[in-house]
Amino acid sequence: MMNPLVQPEIRIDSYLGDGQERSLADDARDGLTRPLKELPPKHFYDSRGAELFDQICELPEYYPTRTERAILNDTATELAAVTGAVELVELGSGTAAKTRVLLDALHAAGTLTRYVPVDVTEGMVRDCAQELIEEYPGLRVHGVVGDFERHLDRVPDPAGPRLVVFLGGTIGNFAPSERRRFLAQIAGLLGPEDHLLMGTDLVKDPEVLEAAYDDRQGVTAEFNRNLLHVLNRELDADFDPSDFDHVARFDAGNEWIEMRLRSRRAHTVTVRALDLPVHFAAGEEMRTEISAKFTRERIDEDLADAGLELVRWLTDPEEQFALTLSAPAG
Ligand code: SAH
Ligand code: TRP
Repeated sequence: MMNPLVQPEIRIDSYLGDGQERSLADDARDGLTRPLKELPPKHFYDSRGAELFDQICELPEYYPTRTERAILNDTATELAAVTGAVELVELGSGTAAKTRVLLDALHAAGTLTRYVPVDVTEGMVRDCAQELIEEYPGLRVHGVVGDFERHLDRVPDPAGPRLVVFLGGTIGNFAPSERRRFLAQIAGLLGPEDHLLMGTDLVKDPEVLEAAYDDRQGVTAEFNRNLLHVLNRELDADFDPSDFDHVARFDAGNEWIEMRLRSRRAHTVTVRALDLPVHFAAGEEMRTEISAKFTRERIDEDLADAGLELVRWLTDPEEQFALTLSAPAG
């Protein structure tokens, strides 16, 4: 194989370095000293976390991935025609499994020249870049390894009409105020010719929602507990993951799924790198993620707040999941 360092089609810029470890340390110190303990979800995705997430996407209970893929299959040709995109910028790109449906359509339309994946997990960005230049001859990949909350300004200048994609319902993992701020930042990446394609999970029967985040095989529980392995490794903490149960509950007032880890017994964990003892009462819960579920009205309002307007509302026949194509309001 050719040395990946000298491949002219690939450029990868990494902005993580020390900053990310500091961010985990800051997040852990802030989150573990609150009355309701909390950790932000971006730290789930080390290589083991990324692997477990891939398994979640294949679970029978986890309908979002297959539903979003089906919508993409039905609409990619139209999306390629409407956007005329020359480049695709993807936030939280992961393995870009579903993105191929869009890349195929843009490649077939003859407009595609560049793919810009943005993700915190460096290995995924590198592997995916290598695969894609082999699958799409002539494609350039400019990967940005970083935190999309801090490094959006590192996305390279547009090479032509741009389509920004944010799939998987990841927008739902932001708290509402941060979600609005983030959408405004995304809008800042868009010129008058550009579009945003965003995937959002929709409000539905709580039983269906809770099963999607608490599967029978326990993969999601394992994914949730992986966060404790990350803290043990990166911050020299001494969590015993088997001391914690996985909890997933729909909060009807907020219309979001809340993921928590519940301590089975009273005990104290030490986060040695922070010199921080953390006491857990028996049954105490720590919040690890929210996953907001949307209505069309909510999405319209959020987009409008960010200066965007809806171009296409794309959903499956059962309205389980939605893709929205939007553009800067003219
Ligand atoms: N787009 C894929 C993956 C979704 S999982 C899909 O639809 O299936 C969420 C992805 O976002 C993971 O790959 C994770 O590494 C990435 N991610 C989460 N928080 C992030 C952050 N703050 N900055 C950059 N990437 C992030
Ligand atoms: N963005 C995905 C979602 O909200 C992430 C996800 C799926 C997730 N299952 C999870 C995050 C379980 C933490 C735990 O659906």
